[in-house]
Amino acid sequence: MSDLMLKKQRIVEENFDTIVDSEFAKDVVYGLSQPQKRLSSKYFYNDAGSQLFDLITEQPEYYLTRAETDIIQKYGSQFFTCLEGTPFNLFELGCGNGDKTFNLIENMLSAGQHFSFYPMDISKVAIDGLVKNLHQSFPLLNVQGQLGDYHQFLAQINTLGKQQQNVVLFLGSNIGNYTPAQAAELLGDLKKGLNSGDLLLIGMDLKKDFDRMTAAYNDKNKVTEKFNLNLLSRMNEELGANFDVNKFNHYEIYNPLDNAMQSFLVAIEKQSISLSTINLDIEFDAFETLFVESSHKYSFRDIEILAHKSGFEVVESYTDDKQDFVDSLWRRL
Ligand SMILES: C[S@@+](CC[C@H](N)C(=O)[O-])C[C@H]1O[C@@H](n2cnc3c(N)ncnc32)[C@H](O)[C@@H]1O
Repeated sequence: MSDLMLKKQRIVEENFDTIVDSEFAKDVVYGLSQPQKRLSSKYFYNDAGSQLFDLITEQPEYYLTRAETDIIQKYGSQFFTCLEGTPFNLFELGCGNGDKTFNLIENMLSAGQHFSFYPMDISKVAIDGLVKNLHQSFPLLNVQGQLGDYHQFLAQINTLGKQQQNVVLFLGSNIGNYTPAQAAELLGDLKKGLNSGDLLLIGMDLKKDFDRMTAAYNDKNKVTEKFNLNLLSRMNEELGANFDVNKFNHYEIYNPLDNAMQSFLVAIEKQSISLSTINLDIEFDAFETLFVESSHKYSFRDIEILAHKSGFEVVESYTDDKQDFVDSLWRRL
């Protein structure tokens, strides 16, 4: 490293907390300085990313959303009948645009269930859209959107609502973005914020033919590629970076050792990047990768193990006809 770069690095280290004031910036500094460069997939979801994700769900290869929609259409009015009419707080972690949730809420209201709804998402465009939509369609439903990282709400989630009984939705294979160990930790935190007997409906993608899974994350219209490359544009916009998105490829494969689809941005040539607002210079070697997402796949046995480790029991597992996806209903022990 040149003297100038060492000097710059020292300045950044000494003034880290003043220069780098957002969590995104901090995670970028940390993640791009690792031997295997990496960033959390939660940073995909700026406004442009959330809109691209909605487009992904419409791609013919992306079976996940269609499968979960089928499950909700078929079983949506039954999921919470075990509560026998008790009013409850309904939370949703990472609701996104909430198309499926909308469907579910419609089913639950028709089944005469009484609840207030607290959707949570890191994306403002997603939360605002869903809340507006729900207010228009169900004016009597109490809806209070929470903008932010859902991790901050987990351990005290039961303090947010008025009712004693809580139900949490965690749909769309969102949990798949965590390794099984991270997933157990996250769900263990959620357990702390729930009361015994509270319910969690968790959507997971089931293990299946590797080629089908690989195709789902490599759609022919290249929407997933755009979605992933948008992370570079986001760093350009928010951190003054100078990434040339044409000099990176999207590469996504299934790794059977981790039971996960894994997604990378690959530098197609050696390049130097500077992120001017955080005084950071980064080198990419040719074919060096930035690891941006994993989407873990589950078997029914894996699901039982995860529930048990996190302090829940599996009550029922609802699948689509092809057994592609499962919405698993858990009870907090
Ligand atoms: C894969 S999408 C799923 C959206 C929706 N639940 C569905 O099933 O279609 C993940 C959603 O979770 C949100 N998200 C991801 N990580 C988050 C976090 N740590 N805190 C809050 N929201 C998060 C994203 O903004 C995005 O809307």
